Amino acid sequence: MTTTTAAEKKIIAVTIDGTPVGVPEGSTILDAAQKAGARIPTLCHHPSLAPIGSCRVCLVSVAGVDRPATACNTQALAGMAITTRSEGLFNLRREVIKMILAHHPLNCTPCPLNGDCRLQDMAYEYDLTTFDFSEYLLKTVEFPWKAFSTPILDYHPRRCILCGRCVKVCAEIRGLGAITMNGAGAHTVVEPVMADRESQSRCISCGECMRICPVNAIEERMGSAKGKPWETTKTQTTCTYCGVGCQLDLNVVGGRVVGVTTRDDVGVNRGRLCSKGRFGYTFIHSPDRLSRPLVRNAAGELEETTWTTALTLVAREFRRIRDNHGPQALAALSSARCTNEENYLFQRLARQVFGTNNVDHCARL
Ligand code: FES
Repeated sequence: MTTTTAAEKKIIAVTIDGTPVGVPEGSTILDAAQKAGARIPTLCHHPSLAPIGSCRVCLVSVAGVDRPATACNTQALAGMAITTRSEGLFNLRREVIKMILAHHPLNCTPCPLNGDCRLQDMAYEYDLTTFDFSEYLLKTVEFPWKAFSTPILDYHPRRCILCGRCVKVCAEIRGLGAITMNGAGAHTVVEPVMADRESQSRCISCGECMRICPVNAIEERMGSAKGKPWETTKTQTTCTYCGVGCQLDLNVVGGRVVGVTTRDDVGVNRGRLCSKGRFGYTFIHSPDRLSRPLVRNAAGELEETTWTTALTLVAREFRRIRDNHGPQALAALSSARCTNEENYLFQRLARQVFGTNNVDHCARL
């Protein structure tokens, strides 16, 4: 089967706010707008998912069409004249955001996303305050706490805007379909699939649903307080749980790692992680962790020492064993927690410095 790449597709011409732009056939209006540099708000849209079209904040006008179109899931057609900015569109989007915020609390202080939230930014940009919602005479729906698909995650139904990203990422990217939407109207919630009938959830605790949620309705319950975005430093590193080399950002507050985030456009994993990579960071500050070298004294007790003393002792003992018994008396056992590069250097040390091919790895034990 031959497939057509974006570069081979026919280019069609449209105009965005009067500016001509060419995009490959099959592109959406949002694709064309982004190419033209026009900013359209989105919430349910995510580049790695098929269009959902649930939030409707991306409304635009198309010349000759009597109703607004959602830019994220409407195909751009040759000759289309699209308007992304007008007073009418501003008011329409404002109404849509109002309806979303009628359900979603605007007391952002307890939310870890406060300061880095697209919905919060939209409320600011579209000049919305809680005062605006009195006209709807809505009653707040209360949701009793319920276990989510895994004990690692908590679900906040009041924050949830029902965009459907979490359900879609679980089905489309993970191929699990472990969560779904249940209920009707303001009582709709995201829940584990068939939670009552299956004691075993399909969820594998990968946290993709949490990662892709635009409003932090799903968050990890690892116990420790997280930092706010403005006080968090992110350091990119390579996950050490296996050899794939997934890229992640360690979120550091006050010298402590408080969480792991990823970016859609970084690394081989493109934002995705397994449960170990995403949630297995608490060992970093575990009091049980050996953080200083220990050397056994003459009485056989372990004593803290300096790295120089410990490494000198290790090098001396390796040399003694090699000189007295030959290089084959030495073996090198590496770790699955090292990166590929570290394992490569380790086997070079064994082969070229120790002079032995006795090299193995803990993953084979
Ligand atoms: Fe287009 Fe949600 S972003 S409908």
